[in-house]
Amino acid sequence: MNHTLSFLMHTKMHEASRQCIYARLLTRHDLPALLKLEHEKWDTEQAASQIELEERIAAYPDLAMGTFCSETGQLLASLFLKPVARDFHRHVQTWRDCTLLPAPEETTTLFGISLTSRRSNGVDALLAFFWPYALKRGWRHVYLGSPIPGLSQWRQQHPKGPIETYVRARRSGMPLDPQLRYYRGRGFTKIVDVKSNYFPHKRSLDHGALLRGTIPLSSLSPLWRMMSLQTIKRITRHLACLL
Ligand SMILES: CC(C)(COP(=O)(O)OP(=O)(O)OC[C@H]1O[C@@H](n2cnc3c(N)ncnc32)[C@H](O)[C@@H]1OP(=O)(O)O)[C@@H](O)C(=O)NCCC(=O)NCCS
Repeated sequence: MNHTLSFLMHTKMHEASRQCIYARLLTRHDLPALLKLEHEKWDTEQAASQIELEERIAAYPDLAMGTFCSETGQLLASLFLKPVARDFHRHVQTWRDCTLLPAPEETTTLFGISLTSRRSNGVDALLAFFWPYALKRGWRHVYLGSPIPGLSQWRQQHPKGPIETYVRARRSGMPLDPQLRYYRGRGFTKIVDVKSNYFPHKRSLDHGALLRGTIPLSSLSPLWRMMSLQTIKRITRHLACLL
């Protein structure tokens, strides 16, 4: 399945469950819920502080989004993005380097600062929400640095094995690593680089795999720019239903 189709399929899954899940942009009023989610899904060394979360929202309010439960209002997933230069990954080593890069004036490339979810489908709902906004704004590529949680166990069995070999390893055409497999299923099909000392993550031996996803249909950017957001939302909803 190509990455566009997989993205649409997940969008469709979101459609099916949208009565109980919705996504929207985050505000500072969401900070207590964001902090709680951070500490549930990241360890103390990895979790963002309240100040960091507040700064992310203030810096790029259109690129900070969350999924919520319609019944309880509980925050289920969060995603923070920032604009970066197209070749940013050639000049950075760590996740922190990526977060500190100044935003260029003109770019169609985004970097995923953080993605966190406590409910299956939370991320799919976020991707579905972001899709029409991304098309309207002309975003084309999204990069993210994924943990490689199966690496430490693989290294025990292959002490001299190059890490790149593990990252590129496939079983039935899909990445061996569970998190790389997860991202591949969501359209992050290109492994751009493997960075050592990327961020503190024990099971990944502190490595990160820099992945790139392409926003489906973003090559038609001149067309999307001429349309209203409402129209793009309608079109993307219909495209998802066609599958
Ligand atoms: C990665 C994450 C955002 C995915 O959220 P989600 O869409 O709600 O999906 P789930 O967490 O239900 O994971 C779905 C499947 O992906 C795979 N997967 C994803 N991340 C994994 C990991 N770190 N280790 C092992 N499997 C993983 C598993 O196969 C999982 O299936 P399971 O239900 O059998 O465990 C979420 O697990 C999370 O917040 N993790 C901690 C923070 C993190 O690693 N963020 C990503 C940084 S780039």
